[in-house]
Amino acid sequence: MKRELRITSDGSPTVFSERWNQHYHSVHGAFNESMHVFISHGLKASPAQPIRILEFGMGTGINVWLTCKEAAHSQRVVYYDTLEAFPLGEDLWREIEIGEGDDQLLFEKIHELDWERENLLASSFTLRKMNADILSWQGEANHYDVIYFDAFAPSTQAELWTVEVFEMCFRVLKPGGFLVTYCAQGQVKRNMKAAGLEVKALPGPPMKRQMTRATKPIQSKEQATS
Ligand SMILES: C[S@@+](CC[C@H](N)C(=O)[O-])C[C@H]1O[C@@H](n2cnc3c(N)ncnc32)[C@H](O)[C@@H]1O
Repeated sequence: MKRELRITSDGSPTVFSERWNQHYHSVHGAFNESMHVFISHGLKASPAQPIRILEFGMGTGINVWLTCKEAAHSQRVVYYDTLEAFPLGEDLWREIEIGEGDDQLLFEKIHELDWERENLLASSFTLRKMNADILSWQGEANHYDVIYFDAFAPSTQAELWTVEVFEMCFRVLKPGGFLVTYCAQGQVKRNMKAAGLEVKALPGPPMKRQMTRATKPIQSKEQATS
């Protein structure tokens, strides 16, 4: 699978995948997009402490890295599980220059830590990387506060944006928990609603009008009428 490092318009790195003909982030700024969608509207929007985050898929590890840095800054205790079916090879992640000194060491540690087990990435940040396919993964019910839904676009991987996948998200989210994604496509939002999620459009990252937050209701319709 041919993948290569690219630099986005805010100067931050991403990866381009020839297999999917897709970048792992917006070319209008990888950091800008991740900070807006996942940090501001994901991590910071949840009051949970500790907070349990699930990510689909890990890719470069930039979302992990940004979340870890923000969590240290705002004294959050984080349990972060991330799924990735096609981990980056060491030759590629070693090429990624994300920051200086401790910042770069933190990024390298994300990739060096063992898969399939919980690791302390930082004093209040536990990371579990899972080499698994979103389509067959069975997570624990009512477990996560926030899902970073960061799959490739539905035009490329339609199978990851279905009612069935959002039903799985519904199941693993705690009541009141939510998923966030950069995607604002109408059919995707209809699939989220069909899975029982409450959908809200939010302002998008640079060069994108909207993004989406989908929340698992605290009380399901069945409970409310019983
Ligand atoms: C948009 S990129 C994620 C970017 C990532 N969050 C980051 O910070 O770099 C989508 C990721 O999903 C992974 N992926 C694609 N299909 C998958 C599947 N069926 N199960 C798990 N991961 C998958 C890809 O390999 C890729 O790393």
